[in-house]
Amino acid sequence: MTKVALVGAGYWGPNLARVMNQSSECDFVAACDSNPRNLENVLRRYPTLRGYSSFADLLASDAEAIVIATPISTHYELAKRALLAGKHVFVEKPLAHTAELARELVQIAASQNLTLFTGHTFIYSPPVIKVKELIDSGGLGDVLYISLSRVNLGLFQKDVDVVWDLAVHDISILLYWLGECPVNGASFGRACVQKDKRDVAFLWLEYPSGVVASIEVSWLSPQKLRRTCVAGSNRTVVYDDMDPAEKVRVYDRGVNFIQPQTFGEFQLSYRMGDMNAPYIGSAEPLLNEIEHFIHCLETGQEPITSGDFGVKVVEVLELVDRTKIGMPHNPSMRPS
Ligand SMILES: NC(=O)c1ccc[n+]([C@@H]2O[C@H](COP(=O)([O-])OP(=O)(O)OC[C@H]3O[C@@H](n4cnc5c(N)ncnc54)[C@H](O)[C@@H]3O)[C@@H](O)[C@H]2O)c1
Repeated sequence: MTKVALVGAGYWGPNLARVMNQSSECDFVAACDSNPRNLENVLRRYPTLRGYSSFADLLASDAEAIVIATPISTHYELAKRALLAGKHVFVEKPLAHTAELARELVQIAASQNLTLFTGHTFIYSPPVIKVKELIDSGGLGDVLYISLSRVNLGLFQKDVDVVWDLAVHDISILLYWLGECPVNGASFGRACVQKDKRDVAFLWLEYPSGVVASIEVSWLSPQKLRRTCVAGSNRTVVYDDMDPAEKVRVYDRGVNFIQPQTFGEFQLSYRMGDMNAPYIGSAEPLLNEIEHFIHCLETGQEPITSGDFGVKVVEVLELVDRTKIGMPHNPSMRPS
């Protein structure tokens, strides 16, 4: 079994540690964190792990694959060092803080014949997979537009704004569903609390197929929303990740345009059909994701969220950053 190690045991790393420990597909052998308290927390929970405070020492160990869950600004450097040390690499989203550096990681992985995987967890989530099946089956007709909302209170990040923290999920979901990258994009947002870091933003994207999408992200909403609407010419899907029972609902409802028979005639007919909520499995996305990583590095298969996939997501983040509209910072709302 492949020996895997975790670097970064802050907020998100312990979730990865749990599934790496749970999986029968890999041998979770070591954890590394430069913060002694965070390292201690993970070692206390999994006492058989070897612990490292230095990444260089971890790289010198017998771990064959490294899972990186450190802040985004560190992804490139740690992933590059791990690949050059001959380790397969899983990097939490987004792959790197620039597309150029992300592309370099892909090249290094290819030249070393190693697997580079990007941790876009939602792509391994059963409702997201179900919506992809519905789109690909043609049951929705032509996809017309997609709107996504991902808002809640905090967790404010130190090194990135809300777009690079939350919208990255939605951008990856759109890439997976549509299989294409946007040709146009813009973002409109505001930094209300921290200086120069947008905590609320609205993104608009236009795809080569004609699909338009909007993404709303916020760290300021008292209510947690994870709601997506995929409107098709035949049916419309509403995917609500906060709904415990019916996360995906398919509506046979819409509007048909009736070709006018006489001059001046204008008619629309409303279709008010059934709603059905397909069965969605309960598999855990994070466990699916780790096991897909292990499967790919053992078989040489290209991961669904490969390094290339990760590059495309960072390219979209850069696209919407290039066309940033709005106030960079509102001092009146900063805490005194
Ligand atoms: N897939 C998801 O749904 C999801 C959710 C949350 C966060 N994330 C991602 O997880 C990553 C980590 O986010 P977080 O919120 O846990 O950050 P965090 O700051 O809470 O934790 C990062 C940890 O990495 C350690 N660290 C930093 N540099 C290090 C180094 N050079 N060597 C060893 N340890 C080092 C820190 O001490 C800290 O314990 C980010 O990339 C974030 O985007 C993914």
